[in-house]
Amino acid sequence: MNRFSMTRRDFVRIGAGAVAAGAAVNATLLEPAPLAAQVDPGTRKIRFVIVGTGIRGCDLLRAARQVPTGECVGAADLYTTRHTAAKEAWGADIPATSDYRTLFDRKDVDAVLVATSDHLHRRVTLDAVAAGKDVYCEKPMSHSVADGQAMVAAVEAGNRIFQAGSQRVSSILYAKAREIYASGRLGEVHSIDAQWNRNSPGGAWVYPIPPDASPQTVDWDRFIQDAPPHAFDPVRFFRWRLFADYSSGLGGDLFVHMLSGIFTITGLNSPPTRALSSGGLYHYKDGREFPDFLETIYDYPSANGPIQVHVHCNQNNDDAGERISFFGSKGTLVVNGNSVTFTPQDVTPRFEGYGWNGMTQAQRQQGMDEWRAAHPAPATPPAAPEVETFTLPKGYNDTAEHIANFYRAVNTRQHVVEDEVFGNHAAIGCHMANYSYFHRTIAKWDEATKAVEG
Ligand SMILES: NC(=O)c1ccc[n+]([C@@H]2O[C@H](COP(=O)([O-])OP(=O)(O)OC[C@H]3O[C@@H](n4cnc5c(N)ncnc54)[C@H](O)[C@@H]3O)[C@@H](O)[C@H]2O)c1
Repeated sequence: MNRFSMTRRDFVRIGAGAVAAGAAVNATLLEPAPLAAQVDPGTRKIRFVIVGTGIRGCDLLRAARQVPTGECVGAADLYTTRHTAAKEAWGADIPATSDYRTLFDRKDVDAVLVATSDHLHRRVTLDAVAAGKDVYCEKPMSHSVADGQAMVAAVEAGNRIFQAGSQRVSSILYAKAREIYASGRLGEVHSIDAQWNRNSPGGAWVYPIPPDASPQTVDWDRFIQDAPPHAFDPVRFFRWRLFADYSSGLGGDLFVHMLSGIFTITGLNSPPTRALSSGGLYHYKDGREFPDFLETIYDYPSANGPIQVHVHCNQNNDDAGERISFFGSKGTLVVNGNSVTFTPQDVTPRFEGYGWNGMTQAQRQQGMDEWRAAHPAPATPPAAPEVETFTLPKGYNDTAEHIANFYRAVNTRQHVVEDEVFGNHAAIGCHMANYSYFHRTIAKWDEATKAVEG
């Protein structure tokens, strides 16, 4: 049985006028496979602990409840009230602590889910790997290029399974988009545009600060252990995304999701060769250290030639929401929230009169005659272009799918798609966006030194 009520394949033909002259729409509701079926029968449940049970950590725990092939056996968080939040999110009593090392010492723990602020991803991952655990680490995998390199080296040396947490990589929507892209129906693709817009305080990371926040309830020293010294500040703790000591701003928060989605669909998996950013801090002048509008043009190398990827995020406009468009010589693919649409272009050769406008009538007639002789009309006219749309069923949770893929990899020891190399490359793109923005220069990737240069 599917876990969704809407399982039927739903082909709907809509009149041509609904989209474009001569085009029909073929709409399909995607069907996810049951999550339990993703693990070979007979394999055991994965026992994991989670480090960081704030907004995302609690969401991970709630999603993990949908995946029957693993169980949470402990939680760590620096804010003691979140020990209770973790138990509520998991729906059962679990050991909870401020010191994750006591959980890593346990022999009955297979894996660690890391959902701390970005600046501690490296420390927690390295400690987990040293304790022999596999790691699911939230995006962005790294807080700096150096952090990412250290994490890749540790995971590879420790022969661990690692998955970065941009869950769309496991989404059936992105699998469908990848299938269309790989079919070649887009023709040549050298241009990709990704945008994610929000227009609310929450969308700009103005998160609540609980009234019981204090040095008694928050282990501040552990929070800043890999950051510059600073006196206790609940704003920095609960709104860490505003500060460069702990976060990478829009790059680390949203760009990384879009780059990970683009990697998944196109097969790109490298740092960009160049990145050029612009933007500014226009509305949220609350002491934050990042722009609330950021856009970056990347050059990504691919087997079929360079691809320009344009990513932009705006925290002061909601009109466009989130969308990624792939512009090909034969068609356009758009991932828009919960749907993906492929629109083929009519590339049937036709006589183009415009270039003949500066010629004599005799020349134009001769040109047309020659063109017609070279392009005889086909016996049967070509089929009208068909727009295809695929939509996720209501309630589909790609985070649960991503967790299920991680459990399976822990059991099979096979790499996941979004492994340490993929996660590192996606994060490097974010760090290059910030480098370009803050240094007001083009950021270049130097493969020899594996570093960013201006
Ligand atoms: N995949 C997604 O869609 C998604 C969505 C939101 C956030 N995230 C990522 O998840 C991570 C957490 O974000 P958030 O919004 O939940 O932040 P948050 O501030 O709500 O929660 C982070 C928690 O980590 C805890 N923490 C920090 N260092 C710790 C340590 N050494 N030991 C134990 N606990 C520690 C803090 O106490 C805090 O409660 C970030 O990396 C963020 O980018 C991913």
